[in-house]
Amino acid sequence: MALIKWASFDAIGDGRGQLVALEGNKNIPFDIKRVYYMTGMKPGAPRGFHAHRRLQQVAVCVAGRCRFILDDGFGREDAWLDSPAKGLLIGNMVWREMHDFSQDCVLMVLASEYYDEADYIRDYEQFLEVAKHG
Ligand code: TYD
Repeated sequence: MALIKWASFDAIGDGRGQLVALEGNKNIPFDIKRVYYMTGMKPGAPRGFHAHRRLQQVAVCVAGRCRFILDDGFGREDAWLDSPAKGLLIGNMVWREMHDFSQDCVLMVLASEYYDEADYIRDYEQFLEVAKHG
């Protein structure tokens, strides 16, 4: 099973710059309940290191770039997010890590659920246990 799945967005560009529109249940495959974004990351300070039991997400680097690692408990793959017209689809029960942030990186995430700490699995051994045995 390929872990890295992309949504590609149309960038509407003209002499003034580019515009990308994201719409729930259209180019984003769920109802968008929450949007958050991260700024001011440091290249040597990776983030993530968790999975979600139910949450689905799409991650977009609206500026700069970073490298995602996705892991479903059976294998891991990595991919660069380096375009505002590219969304990385992250399903539930996928361990994610974000590395190698560029200084100008702005990482936006669209989420299918409201914030709920109880939905997180932050311990990798526990993640493997749930991924393999439910
Ligand atoms: P976390 O999801 O652990 O960030 P990352 O995966 O980038 O390392 O969130 C960092 C902190 O922000 C944590 O204390 C939870 C809080 N938080 C919210 O309050 N609301 C949110 O929507 C998110 C995503 C995080």
